[in-house]
Amino acid sequence: MSERDRLIIFDTTLRDGEQSPGASMTREEKVRIAKALERLRVDVIEAGFPAASRGDFESVRAVAETVRESRVCGLARAGEADIDRAGEAIAPAAAGRIHTFIATSPIHMEKKLQLPPEQVLQRAVAAVKHARRYCDDVEFSPEDAGRSEPDFLCRILEAVIDAGATTVNIPDTVGYNMPAQFAALIRDLRERVPNADKAVWSVHCHNDLGVAVANSLAAVLSGARQVECTINGLGERAGNASLEEVVMAVRTRQDFFPCDTRIETREIVPTSKLVANITGFQVQPNKAIVGINAFAHESGIHQDGVLKHRETYEIMRAEDVGWGMNRMVLGKHSGRNAFRSRCAEIGIAFASEAELNEAFHRFKDLADKKHEIFDEDLQALVTEAAAAL
Ligand code: KIV
Ligand code: ZN
Repeated sequence: MSERDRLIIFDTTLRDGEQSPGASMTREEKVRIAKALERLRVDVIEAGFPAASRGDFESVRAVAETVRESRVCGLARAGEADIDRAGEAIAPAAAGRIHTFIATSPIHMEKKLQLPPEQVLQRAVAAVKHARRYCDDVEFSPEDAGRSEPDFLCRILEAVIDAGATTVNIPDTVGYNMPAQFAALIRDLRERVPNADKAVWSVHCHNDLGVAVANSLAAVLSGARQVECTINGLGERAGNASLEEVVMAVRTRQDFFPCDTRIETREIVPTSKLVANITGFQVQPNKAIVGINAFAHESGIHQDGVLKHRETYEIMRAEDVGWGMNRMVLGKHSGRNAFRSRCAEIGIAFASEAELNEAFHRFKDLADKKHEIFDEDLQALVTEAAAAL
């Protein structure tokens, strides 16, 4: 079998994730999360935007001093002052990166930057060259690429690769693209940029229309080999592509994707909980992979199937992403098999079939009144059932 390509995981929880209104983190919190990301084996940690504030500069520097196994990246606008700050902040890193960006869509160039495309191109090239004075790993992003003219993207990408960019990242900054469209854009750019093979192609998708993960995965099928994402999908507005979903989609569907990540998936849930606790952004119960219900079964048909063979209703194993085990939730949809099995697990033995029937009957009555039946409820209703016979 041929060697699989590496899919580089670039985590931006500490930068774009922190841009979620209300999610700002202290330096100590950022260092704790960075250590968790290192245990998770992410390839690149974007630790912050050093020119944004003194606090962010110090956070990026502290992360660069602490982390040894992941590359540490600082974001910079395409100007010397920002790049100097980023270069200084990442200097202590075992492996560093400067990520510089400038907007390329007509609306951003005209209304925000108020610069003609030629000047945008010149600034991008100058920024990449300046960043290369600090480190040999430089990423360039044409901001709002998802709404930029492909012809202009091709020109600017060719120019920044010539100037020394080692990664070119295509952001769908406002989450506007659809998966087939975004996949076509990546394919088209890779085909048309003459020096495309000299850089790693990356994508950075936002979730405004709920398709950030789908867009990222579609881009991987078009040859992107770095995905930018965040833990729990934290990020500006509706968030960024969620790391856990991208990683587990690629890992679970190795028959479908030509690449894999080096992520230690058992660290996913602990990292998700750490980020939720630090930011106060709790994860919705039905969130894929890290939601409390992601591996819970309540319906009798599903519970019976899983008890007979887990793969009837599970495409991943809860323990592989860091949950203790899958979870059988006893509620009104649960069947006799799940009821008996949970009773056995907590040490309840029935003296007779009649006692089991009586207890199961009482369980169903209680489940009509209560969302979830806990072990203490089971103990009580089994005792009552035995006494009633
Ligand atoms: O969404 C975006 O365009 C960004 C860039 C800085 C890459 O976050
Ligand atoms: Zn972003």
